[in-house]
Amino acid sequence: MIVENNVPLQPYNSFGIVARAQNLVRIASEADVAELRADPRWQGAPRFVLGGGSNIVLTGDVKPLVLKVEIKGLRLVEETPRAWIVEAGAGEIWHDAVQWMLEHGYPGLENLALIPGTVGGAPVQNIGAYGVELQDRFDSLDAIDLDTGRSFTLDAAQCAFGYRDSVFKHVRSGPNDFGLSGRALITRVRFRLPKPWKAVVGYLDLARKMEETGNFTPSATDVFDWVCAIRRAKLPDWRVLGNAGSFFKNPTVTPEQCADIIARDPKIVHYPMDDGSIKLAAGWLIDACGWKGKSVGNAGVYERQALVLVNRGGLENPVTGGEVMTLAKAIQTSVYERFGIRLEPEPVVV
Ligand code: EPU
Repeated sequence: MIVENNVPLQPYNSFGIVARAQNLVRIASEADVAELRADPRWQGAPRFVLGGGSNIVLTGDVKPLVLKVEIKGLRLVEETPRAWIVEAGAGEIWHDAVQWMLEHGYPGLENLALIPGTVGGAPVQNIGAYGVELQDRFDSLDAIDLDTGRSFTLDAAQCAFGYRDSVFKHVRSGPNDFGLSGRALITRVRFRLPKPWKAVVGYLDLARKMEETGNFTPSATDVFDWVCAIRRAKLPDWRVLGNAGSFFKNPTVTPEQCADIIARDPKIVHYPMDDGSIKLAAGWLIDACGWKGKSVGNAGVYERQALVLVNRGGLENPVTGGEVMTLAKAIQTSVYERFGIRLEPEPVVV
């Protein structure tokens, strides 16, 4: 196990922000965590677990010891009449894992194609797209408690999945709270892919693809290809234009609040939820405030999807975390002033 010093983090965050890790260690196996814990130099030291860096804004150098998760491996662990259970190492690239499963005959994650990041980050924020959320295909995960060194396994209920939320995003606040933020290092994730496979094509963009192509019985590969095409048309590729995906969560409001907004803005995009609340499209709200295509320094609002903030300076003259946060705050203020809604950022600000 080697602890590297003064490591540039620009290649490890999808915004391409320049920052350094004072100390960084690569975790390729469970044994690496044990070795790190046994090293007296690092006992009790603050740590920061880094996955694919696709959902973070770095606002300065990272002082806590960075644990860069590079645990690999993809395998079918079980096949039952009702599901394939496939396990992936937390350090696997998410999209490559989705593709591997599809190619090996284990479909089910195709709606989540092209989401940036690693397998270990997927449960942290319960990634979702085009009608499927990670929790719909989740079996269990293995993790290590960095405080005690103990390995443990969690099922879906224990992960407390919510909309872009899980137990891994919360700090423990009391004896009955299992918040694992800053404590758990996810090592492996198992997916439960239901048999027989059924296409999930209810999302408007996918329904449109069926109309366009006249293909109303798509295979998993068709859905995969459609999702890739839709994402490529709407969302910037972070390798070309740095970004962290949707920068804000879609807010929910009460039907009364929604009616109030509709009275003023009849075109507002809204979806009724099962619990009676109404979800609003944050991208629409930001767009309606005139932010699309605007910039603050090198932080910009993407032209084709106002929910995505981008690095306009590339890798040569990259955006700073401060610029991203200044732009984010300006957007929050104008959405609040116009609609009375507080947008909540999705990425973790470090
Ligand atoms: N819209 C606008 N203007 C914009 C952006 C969106 O009017 O600038 C409208 C669209 O026309 C559409 C609605 O807002 O009617 C929703 O837009 P879209 O279908 O692109 O989805 P979204 O709600 O903005 C969410 C997820 C994405 C996910 C897509 C597809 C969140 C925060 N974002 O975006 O996830 O890919 O749905 O399922 O839930 C991510 O989390 O990083 C992410 C990219």
